[in-house]
Order: sequence, then structure tokens, then C-alpha cells
Amino acid sequence: MRIIIELDKDLPTLALSEALSICNTDKYEKDENILILETSVRARKIVKKISLARAVYKYEFSTKKEGVKKKIREHTWSFKEPIKVITRNATPDETKKTISETCKKLEYPKVSMEKPKTRITYIFTNKKAHCGILIGEPKLDLSTAMEKMPAPHPSAMKPRIVKALINIAQPTKSILDPFCGAGGFIVQASKMGYETKGWDIDKGMIWRAKKNTATLKNVKIKNKNALTLKKAESIIADLPYGKNTRKQNMKKLYEQFFKTLKKTKFNNAVLILPKSSQPLKIAKKTGLKITKHHEIYVHGTLTRIVMEVKKN
Ligand SMILES: C[S@@+](CC[C@H](N)C(=O)[O-])C[C@H]1O[C@@H](n2cnc3c(N)ncnc32)[C@H](O)[C@@H]1O
Repeated sequence: MRIIIELDKDLPTLALSEALSICNTDKYEKDENILILETSVRARKIVKKISLARAVYKYEFSTKKEGVKKKIREHTWSFKEPIKVITRNATPDETKKTISETCKKLEYPKVSMEKPKTRITYIFTNKKAHCGILIGEPKLDLSTAMEKMPAPHPSAMKPRIVKALINIAQPTKSILDPFCGAGGFIVQASKMGYETKGWDIDKGMIWRAKKNTATLKNVKIKNKNALTLKKAESIIADLPYGKNTRKQNMKKLYEQFFKTLKKTKFNNAVLILPKSSQPLKIAKKTGLKITKHHEIYVHGTLTRIVMEVKKN
């Protein structure tokens, strides 16, 4: 099916990577945050899985803004009513024009604002208008937020980003976080239905992770060193940051972990490190192949780099 995904605008490259990972394709057209692609993945499954997107639509057509009226007239519409016509990012004039033209064109233009079966949506960008039928709007499960857990830790990442990172890691069955800390990633992954494993070298963190995952199924937490890793299906890891004084040691740990990964059997890994430690440089030095990378600005002194690693 050809679909439109309206990506979130705040993390554009990460949102694109997540959508392509879920849709299992690297062929697409993109106009600002509007992504158009062909996929064999069921659209409802995409809505359920995706995190960094506002909505998913069945594709109808795209046109230059000026040609929208003509395109609506030429398009073959085959809808069962009731319908609702919605515009996004349109001027009042564009909204009036597209709604009235669409209603003229439909055989049974019965509009229902409360319970429409079909939501025809026109999304306007700077130059174009894209028309799709709304399939669904992703909803985020906020119960995975670290602050809501029994043993929280302040440095955890936001659930909507964590969910996207897990989708980019593309687990089929299981996922390992070898630096699991208080367990933010494994809680999210477990709620997404994966078998999850978490390791941490710090016993205090293991205590937290066990508390935070106590009610979840398919979770195994171990007090284990990430540098002993040999095999995993998919990997997601937010490596420790350390304070300025310990930066040297952190760099050494990153280097050792990248070398460990090079010898490890896995499909996909998503690694998160502070930009200040120049992780791309370390990856290059150790020969770890990074296929894509993204930046996440957190605050003045912390920007994270997300690195995607495909295996061997
Ligand atoms: C940034 S935290 C992970 C945060 C986690 N993603 C969460 O959501 O809570 C990094 C963790 O790595 C652990 N760590 C440091 N060195 C390690 C090693 N060699 N093996 C395993 N864990 C290690 C630290 O104890 C720390 O809890």
C-alpha cells in the first residue's frame, strides 16, 4: 500500500529513520515532514508501532498547491460516507477551496463532523498539497516514563524517543540493553512485546531495574559487564556519560565496547553517547561501521549522538 506518514518535526532524521525501519524500505519521497512510500507492512500496524509521527494516511495524490482544485476534480473518489474533510497547515482560503471542491466531487457528500468513517486530509507544505485518508494517529503509552516508575533515575530519556530507538533497532523477537541502568529501555521494549534482557555493572542500578520491571513479563536482568557481550539479536544502549574528570576513562570504555561489538554477533544496534566525547571519531578509530547517525539536543551542555550499527 502507498502511504503518507506525517513525521514529527522536532527530530527529523530520527523520525525518518524510524519510519523507514518500521516500513522495511529505504525507497521514499519526502516533502518537508511528509513522507510518502510503498510498504507491505499493514498500515494499522505502523500506526500502533510508530512513535515520532503525527499521523498515517492511505495515499491519494500529491499536487502543486496551485493545482489542487484541478487535481480534486480529476481524482477518482470511491468513498462510503459519512466523511470529514480536514486540512493541515492550510490558509483559510486553501481550506475553503479544498473542502468545497471535494464535497462537489463526491457522489454522496454527506459530511459528519462527529463520527466520520472516512477522514480525507489535505496536508499543505510550502509548495505542495498531499491528499490522504487518515488511517490513524499514534498514541504514546506514558506509563513507560521513568518518573512514573517505582525506582526512577533522573538521567532517563523520554519514552517517545526510546520507543523510536527500539523501532530503529528492529528487533524481531528480543533486545538487549547491556548498559541498562534503571531499566528505562527495557521497560519500553517489554511493553512493545519483546523479550528483553538488561545488564549493568552497578548493583544499585540492577536493584532499580529489577524494581522497575517487577510486573513485566519476559524481562531478564543481570549484574554483568557489557564488555563480556558475545551474541544478541538486537542491541540498544545508552552508554554511561561520566563527569568531566572521568572523561578519559569513559572514552576508554567506549573504545573497548566498540571493539567488543565488532566481535559480537547481532543484527542491529542503536548506541547513544554524548556528542562531547566525539563518538563518531572513536567508532572510526576502532573500525566500527556506523550506517546512520542523529543528534538529540538535550540542554546547553548535553547533546546526544545516536549511532546505528548494522552487522556484519
Ligand atoms: C546512562 S546509564 C543507562 C540509562 C538507561 N538507559 C535507563 O534508561 O535508565 C549507563 C549505565 O551503564 C552502566 N555501566 C557502566 N559501565 C558498564 C559496564 N562495563 N557494563 C555494564 N554496565 C555498565 C552504569 O552503571 C549505568 O547504569
